[in-house]
Amino acid sequence: MKILITESIAEEFVTSLRDQGFEVEEYLGHTQEEIEGHIKGCDALIVRSATKVNEALLSNADCLKVVGRAGTGIDNIDVPACTEHGVIALNTPTANNMAAGELAVAHAFAVFRNLCDANNGVHSGDFRRGNWIGVELEGKTAGVIGLGRIGSIVSRKLKGIGMNVVAYDPYVPSEKFEKLGVTRCETLDDLLKVVDLITMHTPKTKETYNMIAKEQIYKCKRGVRIVNAARGGLVNEQDLADALAEGQVAGAAIDVFDVEPSYNKKPGEQEFDNVLIHAPHCYITPHLGASTVEATYNVGSQVADLVARALNGEMVAALNMPAIEGDINAIRPYCNLAEKMGKMYYQTEKSPVKKIEVNYAGGIASQSMEIVTMSLLVGLLKGMGVDGVSYVNIKECVEEYGITISETYDQKVKKYNNLVTVTFHNDDGKDLVLAGTVFEPDTEVLVSFYGYEMNCTLTDTVLAIKNDDVPGVIGKIATTLGRHNINISSLHWARKDKKDKSSAQAFVSVEQPVTEKILKELASCEGVRLVSMIDFS
Ligand code: NAD
Ligand code: MLT
Repeated sequence: MKILITESIAEEFVTSLRDQGFEVEEYLGHTQEEIEGHIKGCDALIVRSATKVNEALLSNADCLKVVGRAGTGIDNIDVPACTEHGVIALNTPTANNMAAGELAVAHAFAVFRNLCDANNGVHSGDFRRGNWIGVELEGKTAGVIGLGRIGSIVSRKLKGIGMNVVAYDPYVPSEKFEKLGVTRCETLDDLLKVVDLITMHTPKTKETYNMIAKEQIYKCKRGVRIVNAARGGLVNEQDLADALAEGQVAGAAIDVFDVEPSYNKKPGEQEFDNVLIHAPHCYITPHLGASTVEATYNVGSQVADLVARALNGEMVAALNMPAIEGDINAIRPYCNLAEKMGKMYYQTEKSPVKKIEVNYAGGIASQSMEIVTMSLLVGLLKGMGVDGVSYVNIKECVEEYGITISETYDQKVKKYNNLVTVTFHNDDGKDLVLAGTVFEPDTEVLVSFYGYEMNCTLTDTVLAIKNDDVPGVIGKIATTLGRHNINISSLHWARKDKKDKSSAQAFVSVEQPVTEKILKELASCEGVRLVSMIDFS
């Protein structure tokens, strides 16, 4: 499978992806049009903030399954369009928080103490320090806009240096403000009235774009300072430049522009310009928020790991999937179990499924298992040979087949700590039930196969063999497999009713797929009624 990387990540993770057998092409420094023309044949795309993952790019892709955003902000990723194209979109939202938070704090110091102006002065021979009298941060009021991951880090650090911190974030519960010791502002205006420093930490959305413009700037005290290390355009660039020139804003520090330059061009080649570059007391860094050794490592490591897992069909937390409650590592084995249960249906039955009921019982029933149900459906549709199905478009795909789904939850369970029971109602009017559990930490076990009780660990290939309940059948099955050098890793035998001699069921886990010819040989053994090979790989 091919992974295209259009913006650099740490080289060791490119190597690690190659070592895992992926073909990796680093296609760096290219224009958006060139990338759009180069996306065919790629199974995954890794980007930072410059590549636009939009409809144009997605509709040029012919086998794209995953987009990995090496970083936090997703304003360059059209997530709904990814969903429509069945592409998993993921990012690394925790990998560079500290780096970005620290940069915002560094910027706050720089604007309070005129560090950049003083530095520039000295480099041009001007040592008149009287020109660069700053103000102290201690005792001043910082207004944090957006109290998410980075806003929280910045709040803690600014409090640590003795600032009063107030914040505006209508989406965050009061408990978080209380925990951080930050005063909640009910409205943006409440914040603007009291602050000496504004620091921006929201995503760039329709709602946040230009949220600090002339009107808001002039609601602040004269001499307010502004830091934006979140996204360009949250602060209106022209209005900020004017307010700096006029003195309403005493200093600003900007890490991000509304329209970003290319960060690869050499000085002579750079044509980018922006009004803030010419504004007084405006310190600008070239989108350095995530540029630390630690963040570069974390982002590269996380994006490479997530993309590889997603390409290998593993469930990963993605932007276009339901949020997973609790620990993803604890839920993952249930997703694997459910996907296998889904894959079993069409490998053992022919009649189309009309309705599926999933029951979650035991400890797992205390949280939403929607993602596990989605795994079941992914398995079912993969078993039907449906192409391009993934977690992100599974609901739409299932709807097309007219299959209805229901989930029930039951805190009580008799035999196991947790149990997943799936009932497939099919066109033949049959209700076929599979049940499974996970033995800690991650062994998937089938405990009921269409009414036959068993205890079968699900390996990659299992033979489900319906046979007569008479002596000698298992011997014939084992001999046939042995003659073809096929090793049996486990064998389970079950019957529903002692008196019914035609209703035994064997579950034989084998260490390699079995050819059609061998399946036919097995089917012709005396006492064997039906042989199905279930391939979970
Ligand atoms: P986050 O999702 O954890 O937090 C964002 C917060 O903004 C949320 O709490 C949300 O409720 C709040 N918010 C949304 N709309 C709002 C509104 N209208 N008014 C007030 N608050 C609002 O995100 P994060 O990880 O903290 O990242 C914050 C920003 O920093 C993002 O824009 C991200 O892209 C950017 N970032 C920049 C760099 C950099 O290199 N400069 C690095 C990492 C992240
Ligand atoms: C981010 O959103 O992660 C940062 O802006 C850094 C980046 O884009 O690389």
